[in-house]
Amino acid sequence: MTSELYQRASKVLPGGVTAAARANPALGEPFYVARAAGPMLTGLNGREYIDLCMSNGATLLGHAHPAIATAVQRAIELGITCAYDGEAQVRLAERLVEQIPAFEMVRFTTSGTEATFYALRIARAYTGRTKVLKFEGHFHGFNDALAFNFWPTRVDGSSSVLAPIPETDGLPESAPSEIVVIPFNDLAAFQAALDRFGDELAAVIMEPINFDSGAILPDRSLLTLIREETKRRGIVLIFDEILSGYRTGPDCAQGYLGVTPDLTTLGKAVAGGVPLSVFGGRRELMSIVAPAGRAVHTGTYNAHLIPIMAAHAFLDTIAAPDFYPRLLALSERLQQELRRAFKEGGLPVRIQSVGARFGMYFGLDPEIEVTCFQQASRQDKRLLNAFCREMHQRGVYVNPAWHHGISAMHTEQIVDRVGELAADAARAVAQTVLTMTEERRHTRY
Ligand SMILES: Cc1ncc(COP(=O)(O)O)c(C=O)c1O
Repeated sequence: MTSELYQRASKVLPGGVTAAARANPALGEPFYVARAAGPMLTGLNGREYIDLCMSNGATLLGHAHPAIATAVQRAIELGITCAYDGEAQVRLAERLVEQIPAFEMVRFTTSGTEATFYALRIARAYTGRTKVLKFEGHFHGFNDALAFNFWPTRVDGSSSVLAPIPETDGLPESAPSEIVVIPFNDLAAFQAALDRFGDELAAVIMEPINFDSGAILPDRSLLTLIREETKRRGIVLIFDEILSGYRTGPDCAQGYLGVTPDLTTLGKAVAGGVPLSVFGGRRELMSIVAPAGRAVHTGTYNAHLIPIMAAHAFLDTIAAPDFYPRLLALSERLQQELRRAFKEGGLPVRIQSVGARFGMYFGLDPEIEVTCFQQASRQDKRLLNAFCREMHQRGVYVNPAWHHGISAMHTEQIVDRVGELAADAARAVAQTVLTMTEERRHTRY
């Protein structure tokens, strides 16, 4: 039985949702939210839920964090200026250049998809080449050029250049010929791709921490090889930090890993849940952006005052000395709680986290590290969906997605409560779904 709101939505919104990812296979319809505060969401029925999605990672500070709310209010008082530059924009650029190793110059835009679109444009304009190398299981928004092999349903397991698999209809016929896809954490595949396409590549784009397939760190020697070879061959290395940004510390994944790319994209957390994205990097590259050069980036909403003020508030908040120690300890506590819960509940789940975001791989061996999408894709989505459903019934919102996380407004009590509820939910899933599978197995054989 679908809700009346979903029935109304289905008449006026394709698929009944405002974004494809808002369809919720665990619940059968979107999770409708009336309001949010700190770590909590309130459903339409007035029931409260602990949030483990946190706006897909955008509200790292918590929903309506007081610093962000005050900044938005201040922007309103200042006239909600849109399409004008002022001191706040220049100062934010200065702060980001001071903070992020790769940034010597930056530009602001609105969504992550736009940021990766522009980063690619700059790489192509700068190198005069068009091909781009990306990794299977890495997501960079839905630009035509990059909409390949995010989460393919067919994974061929080969250790070489993969067939480009489009993630959407409507791409130009030429698009697959401009993308080179390889499995992640596979040195031989990277070397093979360079041997074949090295002279044609404008860019290598990657999530430096692959949260869009859970939480997968790059192999150290692969990362070194990528940095060295891109530099040697004049290929622009782009770190897409839209999700990894600010999960480990103020200098983002590049600071954490100690590798500086040529260009970086930021989004999500950077403005505390208000739409802002950033792209930037080496001065030489950014100097070709119009009007300094001929790679055009412009737009009415770029550097809108509300997200700019919110980003200042975000940076002020994370600068508190205890911000990251507390957030990271809390995230670690949640991982421990969940590991204990799944063990107690008898549900096999591998949990991996880096900083303040984590992945859960249902049905995979809890002791074996997941290092690429090929492994991640073997998780049992039925178990994931069943767990999300059971948690929802118990008042915790877990999005049936690849990555999850807490905010700075979660507390130890909340995290411990999640652990208790997760043990109960895991037990219910193990009893229903796992038993069903067992029964089927017996009937079949
Ligand atoms: C790594 C990465 N890049 C790009 C995007 C696209 O960002 P947006 O949804 O703001 O367009 C996302 C969003 O999930 C992301 O995780």
